[in-house]
Amino acid sequence: MTLAEIENGRVASLAEIAAATGDEIETLRVKYVGRNGSIPALIKAMKDVPKEERPAFGKAVQAWKAQVEAALAAKGAGGAAEKRVEADLTLPGNWREPGVEHPLSRVIKDTARIFGHLGFTVADGPELENRFNNFTALNTPAHHPSMDRSDTFWFGDDCLLRTQTSPVQIRTMMTNKPPVRVICPGRTFRRDTTDATHSANFHQIEGLYVDTKPVSLADLKSVLSYFAREMMGDGVTVRFRPHFFPFTEPSVEVDFTCHVCKGKGCRVCKDSGWIEVAGAGMVDPRVFGFVGYDADEVSGYAFGFGVERVAMIKYGIPDIRWLYENDVRFLSQFA
Ligand code: PHE
Repeated sequence: MTLAEIENGRVASLAEIAAATGDEIETLRVKYVGRNGSIPALIKAMKDVPKEERPAFGKAVQAWKAQVEAALAAKGAGGAAEKRVEADLTLPGNWREPGVEHPLSRVIKDTARIFGHLGFTVADGPELENRFNNFTALNTPAHHPSMDRSDTFWFGDDCLLRTQTSPVQIRTMMTNKPPVRVICPGRTFRRDTTDATHSANFHQIEGLYVDTKPVSLADLKSVLSYFAREMMGDGVTVRFRPHFFPFTEPSVEVDFTCHVCKGKGCRVCKDSGWIEVAGAGMVDPRVFGFVGYDADEVSGYAFGFGVERVAMIKYGIPDIRWLYENDVRFLSQFA
């Protein structure tokens, strides 16, 4: 490398840049001052120039570099302005659909609103529970099959993923004096094999009303019928069937008329015309004993229903798994 070569290079590069248009400007920027360009290569090679000649070479190369950068900048190299002019403005843009509320969130919100009109507030409880809140205080006999390791996710002897939202009844009564009127939406967990109607992780909404005034099964029926109409529309009919739960006596199961066949019988309701939605009943006096309420002074009802069930009936969703797969084609229908 000689000073004359540097000078020739400088003159040639400035002429090239002066004549360049469009994409050529970027190509020249890369060629001369890019990371592997010829000017950085000269700077790197400077260490091989004899010491006494180095200052003169250094000065010449730096001057070249400054002039090339100035010439490129004058042409708008790397600038957004140049690129914008070149962009094809007729290309389609990047579409971003606004997000929508998940159907499960919608059902939970609607439920809170409907029961809010009846004076219920929303209570909360943890998903990790102890044996007392999830089973014992709910009057579940020790050795009940629901406590089995094949049905419940246990972590040691006294810690489990709640199998129902009913432990929130216990928490609410242990920390509040009657009257209480709460609903509790939340996640629940059971060792179920996933299929079209089962999931190991699902949601329930628990309800609890306890008062020092007498509360009756008729109150429970009227409240759940009101809820059914508000949630599903006027066409729905509600049926109560006798059942058994350890923590309510008497207990009922609650069915809504099938949304698909309107009660005539079809594949979805297994030809019965009804779909089971909730369990409910009058709180068993033994439960009041566990939470320190005087069973002679108070009475109340509790209910618990499956959020997925309600969503599936309300929106005609045939497979519970659709609710968890986050397929945008499914979710965007709830916009
Ligand atoms: N926890 C019960 C279940 O999961 C439902 C229920 C709630 C029944 C409250 C009665 C009262 O099946």
